[in-house]
Amino acid sequence: MNIQALLSEKVSHAMIAVGAPADCEPQVRQSAKAQFGDYQANGMMAVAKKMGMPPRQLAEKVLEQLDLSGIAAKVEIAGPGFINIFLAQEWLSAQIDGVLTAPKLGVAPVAPKTVVIDYSAPNVAKEMHVGHVRSTIIGDAAARTLEFLGHKVIRANHVGDWGTQFGMLIAFLEKQQSEHHEAIALADLEAFYREAKRTYDEDPAFAERARGYVVKLQGGDEYCRKMWKQLVDVTMTQNQLIYDRMNVTLTRDDVMGESLYNDMLPGIVADLKAKGLAVESEGATVVFLDEYKNKEGEPMGVIIRKKDGGYLYTTTDIACAKYRYETLKADRVLYYIDSRQHQHLMQAWTIVRKAGYVPDSIPLEHHMFGMMLGKDGKPFKTRAGGTIKLSDLLDEAVDRATKLVAEKNPDMPADELNALANIVGIGAVKYADLSKSRTTDYIFDWDNMLAFEGNTAPYMQYAYTRVLSVFRKAGIDAEAVSGVTRIVDDREAALAVRLLQFEETITQVARDGMPHVMCAYLYDLAGLFSGFYEHCPILNAEDEATKQSRLRLALLTAKTLKQGLDTLGIETVERM
Ligand code: ARG
Repeated sequence: MNIQALLSEKVSHAMIAVGAPADCEPQVRQSAKAQFGDYQANGMMAVAKKMGMPPRQLAEKVLEQLDLSGIAAKVEIAGPGFINIFLAQEWLSAQIDGVLTAPKLGVAPVAPKTVVIDYSAPNVAKEMHVGHVRSTIIGDAAARTLEFLGHKVIRANHVGDWGTQFGMLIAFLEKQQSEHHEAIALADLEAFYREAKRTYDEDPAFAERARGYVVKLQGGDEYCRKMWKQLVDVTMTQNQLIYDRMNVTLTRDDVMGESLYNDMLPGIVADLKAKGLAVESEGATVVFLDEYKNKEGEPMGVIIRKKDGGYLYTTTDIACAKYRYETLKADRVLYYIDSRQHQHLMQAWTIVRKAGYVPDSIPLEHHMFGMMLGKDGKPFKTRAGGTIKLSDLLDEAVDRATKLVAEKNPDMPADELNALANIVGIGAVKYADLSKSRTTDYIFDWDNMLAFEGNTAPYMQYAYTRVLSVFRKAGIDAEAVSGVTRIVDDREAALAVRLLQFEETITQVARDGMPHVMCAYLYDLAGLFSGFYEHCPILNAEDEATKQSRLRLALLTAKTLKQGLDTLGIETVERM
């Protein structure tokens, strides 16, 4: 059910009937205030101007043609020519009944597209840290949302699994294995990386061996390949535990690391040269872009192959975009990468477009986000100033949630408490990030995210259990609710309109890749339910028909909250 789309169609139909151009924009929006109705058509002003007519006059003519019988109870003109639409309670009632029995909460099927989503992208031989949190969580919500709508989503985990550091890592793995004769050497990835680096810096023979391994690995040497694969496997096994723990849908099959594109790179460089886009400059191969100027105001040079023959992060991203279009057949590609990499992506994509690797009709979208900051407004670090490991962050979230949940439920058995604390703690970390507009930096604050008030995971999860408790108190199975919906009260109507806006919300999230829009919607929905619950007795309703009708609104609220939270990757429980 998409009220906005339905009304847009009706209003533009009426506009065209009174002489507006066929592509006129009715600009139908959800009204911000109840006094302006449920929806407003704001397009009369712009169209009247084009038609050389006073906007109010256009609005009046449009009203004469506008057929909203059965849908609206009242339509009125306001201000310079806004059209305010008040939906009819009988119509709302019928729509609620329709949505309750429809699959997917009545969300209309879409024309399925193949959407590639680049997210998480940790690096091999390093542990995931707070820098990967936002990409992982927000990217996964986008994947779930697009999948729910019926698109074919390809999750692309662009793992940093290639580069010159692998010579050093292979040489160090070899050293460790010869000294320890066991496979535990990689247990602590951070320490492993640090030690490898230290050995490389201090031991010239080791460094020499490491450099040799880089060349061999690039050349496809079997031994180096095997050692490299061990490094990738250990890292991704460890990361998979974190994904599972965080209820993130990525699996091992989604790994499409930088190495995947390695074989394409020489061909890309040769092709860019043949197309006259790349030139040799001081021994390196460079693409000069007029679109970007350096400090001297000259076209910026983007290196795609170094003097020593090595390729760069940019070269890989050029190949990667090409691959996603050509091989994966993407209709759209979303990249969840922090904003500091924006210029890098823009340069890579400018080259991609100029070379004709991906046509302009296929959007390549950088869904960027800011940094994660501590309460002091500085980059989020451990007390000692180190990077915070993601696994430590999750442990702390669950610890804090355990205390919180135990306080509220002193008699809860330990295993139940554990499960609940996991859902609340992990949910809190995820929701805190998801609920804020992703484009800005974000302040990580334990107390805020674990509060039972405000737009937080605990509040939303609790709100869901409150709706379910209505059914528990009544001793009825939610699915067994019968009767029909019969909206008579303003609070019922307000709740119903919001419930029916689920499709509008999820469509917007899918278009903009902004999950905080879903969070805001669900939070508002929970608030409207509270208002309804307080003022419209459900179990003590004046008659059985009213009780059933209100139970139906409660049921759809529960379903919508659960489904909405699910598209965000936030788990719910029946009680807490
Ligand atoms: N591994 C990179 C990092 O940790 C992120 C990769 C993002 N994806 C891409 N196609 N460049 O910064």
